[in-house]
Amino acid sequence: MNYRKLGRTGLRVSEVSLGTMAFGRWIDEKASAAVLDRALDAGINLIDTADVYGRGMDVGDPSLTGESEAIIGRVLKGRRDQVVLATKFHARVGTGVNDAGQSRYHLYRAIDRSLQRLQTDHIDLYQVHGFDAETPLDETLRGLDDLVRQGKIRYIGCSNYAAWQIAKAHGISAVHGLHRFESVQPEYSLIARGIERELAPFARSEQVGVIVYSPLGRGILTGKYRPDEAPPEGSRLAAGEKRLQQLLQANPAYALVEALKPLALRRSLTTAQLALAWVLSHPHITSAIIGASRPEHITDALQFADHRLSDEELQQIDEVSRSAGLFF
Ligand SMILES: NC(=O)c1ccc[n+]([C@@H]2O[C@H](COP(=O)([O-])OP(=O)(O)OC[C@H]3O[C@@H](n4cnc5c(N)ncnc54)[C@H](OP(=O)(O)O)[C@@H]3O)[C@@H](O)[C@H]2O)c1
Repeated sequence: MNYRKLGRTGLRVSEVSLGTMAFGRWIDEKASAAVLDRALDAGINLIDTADVYGRGMDVGDPSLTGESEAIIGRVLKGRRDQVVLATKFHARVGTGVNDAGQSRYHLYRAIDRSLQRLQTDHIDLYQVHGFDAETPLDETLRGLDDLVRQGKIRYIGCSNYAAWQIAKAHGISAVHGLHRFESVQPEYSLIARGIERELAPFARSEQVGVIVYSPLGRGILTGKYRPDEAPPEGSRLAAGEKRLQQLLQANPAYALVEALKPLALRRSLTTAQLALAWVLSHPHITSAIIGASRPEHITDALQFADHRLSDEELQQIDEVSRSAGLFF
């Protein structure tokens, strides 16, 4: 496993990290423990979760959120110090009027609930899960800064932010002498390349770590979904993941996956391994968060993760992406 520096900080994180959105949502505690164990054995040290992850995301019941954090807390017992633990707050986690967003009121409750579920006294990377246009950024940044000074958080980051939103936040942090967002967590894969235009160059220029999610396009780039065929049993599509349904409707990317197959075969890879190697071949990426519902997904993903694609291969992939209408 290779480790990269998180932006300008001194912290080193594995270039492949483990996402735990499946824990307690699509897979039970026993299956989650097997995934987490395999990830740690493979040298993954960055574990990403969120207070909202859990069954509640599918059934629209905020009281069923937090299961991912609770499982991690139990499974990591005795091994907490082996990992860089990252979680997030912002999404609705209760029915109360203040059970969402980034007010100081919600922030202080959210961190304590996450710490309790994760059975730890600090979060290594605490991320805002999206931009909150309703709360002044200085309220959120001051609250986060207080929590760093109290020792409850080591670093702060943001997710799903545009470059201008981070720039605005950095400006406020600089003016008031507050800790700044050291990382951003956007979506990035062969079917979601939006960050290449502005966010990635911005992050490089400002030395912000880029931890990307869904590098396999939520499973689409594994080729497991076929037009006019029922989704494989046990898959997230079969379980009804709404975002995945929307993605497949907007652009099923079947043509891209087919076009990637010969390129993958030339290296004796699966399309999923090629898709992950493609993400990691970009210098603007700090870490790719893979999702896994079985330990084998981790083993498969890591088989080629240490390798880089050549410039020629990257160009060929751009060409097939262009012909599939996924790159301009
Ligand atoms: N910040 C945000 O807003 C945000 C949003 C989304 C995700 N995330 C984070 O990013 C993490 C990863 O996201 P993701 O799960 O969408 O990532 P992903 O790596 O693109 O997709 C993972 C899915 O691909 C399938 N898969 C992986 N390896 C496979 C293999 N060898 N063979 C067949 N199928 C395979 C599995 O689907 P099945 O389980 O269906 O088999 C797995 O659940 C999340 O857990 C979460 O921590 C953050």
